[in-house]
Amino acid sequence: MKIHAQITGTGSYLPQRIMTNHELAQQIDTTDNWIVERTGIRQRHLAAKNETTSDLAHAAALRAIEAAGIDAADIDLIVVATTTPDLVFPSTACLLQQKLGIENRCPAFDVQAVCSGFVYALATADNFIRAGQARCVLVVGAETMSRITDWSDRSNCILWGDGAGAVILQASDTAGVIATHLHADGRYRDLLHVEAGVSSGLEKSSAVRMQGSSVFKIAVKTLDEIVDETLAANHLQKSDITWLVPHQANIRIIEATAKKLGMSMDRVVVTVDRHANTSAASIPLALDTAVRDGRIRAGDLLLMEAFGGGFTWGSALVKWMV
Ligand code: ACO
Repeated sequence: MKIHAQITGTGSYLPQRIMTNHELAQQIDTTDNWIVERTGIRQRHLAAKNETTSDLAHAAALRAIEAAGIDAADIDLIVVATTTPDLVFPSTACLLQQKLGIENRCPAFDVQAVCSGFVYALATADNFIRAGQARCVLVVGAETMSRITDWSDRSNCILWGDGAGAVILQASDTAGVIATHLHADGRYRDLLHVEAGVSSGLEKSSAVRMQGSSVFKIAVKTLDEIVDETLAANHLQKSDITWLVPHQANIRIIEATAKKLGMSMDRVVVTVDRHANTSAASIPLALDTAVRDGRIRAGDLLLMEAFGGGFTWGSALVKWMV
């Protein structure tokens, strides 16, 4: 019999500290109105000085483990999507394994696809389960984007937030993860990047640099294409999708995708107003929010989609089973 993967539990964590647009407007030349109108963002959470990405991942993972009703020792693979790892190495996934006290020597590794990271990590975990190489996977998207933000650059510091979201993915006879579709195009590297890097020079700028309006236009067009591709490949109509759970970069990008799907915004999970853009953490944070408040229910068909630095983009089509 074919093996499939199902999400059996979700969890998330947001650092305690909230920075509102009003607070930001006291530090740079901007206004709450401008940020809300152009992005939909009203506030963001910021990690404390001593809080690292693996700390956020740990808190989210504990909640997902509890929701799935499993023991941490049952986990046989850990995949963490992050652009802001604690260290060059060991990977954040290895640090998380240690924090969770998992001593079963299961594989653990990070996936780097910036804002598309969670979709990439979910696809990776799904394929491990389908191949019979794992049965219970912890998939996490966790970021401390505030650490690579230039807080004097008003054109992009308004966008970022910190947080983590996690899911437990388990082997099953019935398909929860129906399909994933992933893409990348490295030709666009200069439109959205961080200059510093281990072999390029750690002394270079470690802040996100972005040509916002170019990124915006390509993101909308590319997400349109991934919606078409996902529906066609899975023989679905737009009306078959119950919930859109998008990457939370900008409310105008989210609205454009909803329009493409002919969906009203009350079928779209929106957290960008409260969480801002938490990169790889944004989809699992949004998912956990809508699962815990009871919007997402058994039998619903979810379309997750993301676009980010690289460029990378992708989608995951998930039937909700729990
Ligand atoms: N407050 C006030 N004015 C501002 C601010 C600000 N914070 N930032 C820029 N402006 C000004 C500009 O200087 C410009 O002024 P000018 O017309 O006098 O020159 C004007 O506002 C318009 O600037 P634009 O950059 O054209 O503004 P735009 O409407 O494009 O919004 C934004 C900027 C919000 C960054 C938008 O381009 C965006 O969301 N881009 C996509 C971001 C994204 O989705 N990234 C991908 C995912 S992220 C990842 O993968 C890591």
